[in-house]
Amino acid sequence: MSGAAITKADNALERIRAIVGDKGVTTDAAEIAPFVTDERGRYRGASPMLVRPATAQDVAAVVAVCADNALPIVPQGGNTSLCGGSVPHAEGGEIVLNLSRLNRIRDIDPLNYTMTAEAGCVLADLQAAAEEADRLFPLSLGAEGSCRIGGNISTNAGGTNVLRYGMARELVLGLEVALPDGTLWNGLRALRKDNTGYDLKQLFIGGEGTLGIITAAVLKLFPRPRDTQTAWLAVRDLDAALELLVRAREASGDRVTAFELITRRCLDFVLAHTPGASDPLAEPHDTYVLIEFSSPEPESGLRQAMEGLFAAAFEDGIVVDGVLAESMAQGRDLWRLRESITESQKFEGGSIKHDISVPVSRVPEFVRRATELVGKELPGCRPLAFGHVGDGNVHFNISQPVGADKAAFLAQWERVNRLVHDLVFEMNGSFSAEHGIGQLKREDLLRYKPAIEVALMRRVKQAIDPQGIMNPGKIL
Ligand code: FAD
Ligand code: MLT
Ligand code: ZN
Repeated sequence: MSGAAITKADNALERIRAIVGDKGVTTDAAEIAPFVTDERGRYRGASPMLVRPATAQDVAAVVAVCADNALPIVPQGGNTSLCGGSVPHAEGGEIVLNLSRLNRIRDIDPLNYTMTAEAGCVLADLQAAAEEADRLFPLSLGAEGSCRIGGNISTNAGGTNVLRYGMARELVLGLEVALPDGTLWNGLRALRKDNTGYDLKQLFIGGEGTLGIITAAVLKLFPRPRDTQTAWLAVRDLDAALELLVRAREASGDRVTAFELITRRCLDFVLAHTPGASDPLAEPHDTYVLIEFSSPEPESGLRQAMEGLFAAAFEDGIVVDGVLAESMAQGRDLWRLRESITESQKFEGGSIKHDISVPVSRVPEFVRRATELVGKELPGCRPLAFGHVGDGNVHFNISQPVGADKAAFLAQWERVNRLVHDLVFEMNGSFSAEHGIGQLKREDLLRYKPAIEVALMRRVKQAIDPQGIMNPGKIL
């Protein structure tokens, strides 16, 4: 850490302590350590101070002190970012402002189908609270037991239910935000219609903490599903998966909640490294989809719809095998296979990740071309294609060849990203479908985003955070 950074932090420390108390701040390196390393262990940052305020007012007051001292801040929720957005840089000038103590649900309004929650609420807790109120909060992702709603909103998180309910952006009606000068903006409107000029909350959704700190949000709720049907189907190939998606939307009356792709190597890794996991089918197949239909009607006819879909697609050679969950528990087991892919890949050495999207119709072409491309570049590498294929979002994560040197493999990360992202660009896709930019994809942003958009983004950043103290070096 530089001397200047330490001096700035020293100057701010006592004022910050006066706001948050001893419990809310530490400068102890051992205590800070878990908060400066990212989920994938790719970034190891440093920070002079970890601050954990308990109220929105305290967050704003801490930001005001930081503004006075030009002290940069990394806002942090569950620290599950997959692109290094939530940790400071190795030089360590930034304080980490962790939101985990802001974890109150301020209000649930079942008639308005809304919930007002503080930024530090764990996503799974919000799902449970909505369910208790006989409602659904549909945002769902593998990290839901540890990620927090402020982080979800700041990354505009996607996950498995986007096909039906949209990304985080579509689930937010209002925000409360601590702005970079320490002002607390109360934009907690619970309105579905509010056409009063620029929709400012949109700047902070997906802003990755570079424009302000979200302290609370008004979230949209939905009727709770009372009939959920889950199926694990082996399909002939990737093209068949898309044919199946079209049929599934029709057969269910467009009530497909999730449509996830799992290719065989993903399942092999999960079976090898997840205790209790077993192959749902007797024979191995190259390509699977996990489909979910859901409806708030208890007798919705979705079971018959799923059975009919399976039978007809099997008859037509689109589906080659499959299983329909007979109970909620069996459905959860199928989901567990899908959700364990990321974790199981860690046991297979280094992996070079891509989180891309292309038009849904071009997913098979992307997977084929990308697999061929990286096969030539990295002989023996093991690509895993999986993800939210119903939205055109493929996680294309390449595991190292068996027995290869992990560091040498990972040293090729940028070069391989470039090849794959160039292909995505050529296919009119996005190099970051849902995980965001963080510090991992800044160069990609400059390379692939139109210059006019980057220039506008810089102007927005300059207007809202002229000192550049909010999560510096992230996104831009
Ligand atoms: P953090 O990691 O703490 O922060 C993420 C970013 O938001 C950082 O830039 C941080 O500075 C900023 N931030 C955090 N809180 C605030 C706040 N209150 N105000 C302003 N800025 C803030 N992501 C998906 O989109 N879809 C998936 O399917 C998905 N699956 C995942 C599966 C696994 C196993 C893991 C580990 C991660 C997955 N992720 C996925 C990525 C990650 O979980 C999401 O990006 C999540 O939304 C981050 O939430 P968080 O609370 O952990 O945020
Ligand atoms: C997922 O959908 O499981 C994650 O977003 C994928 C990943 O870890 O790359
Ligand atoms: Zn994902």
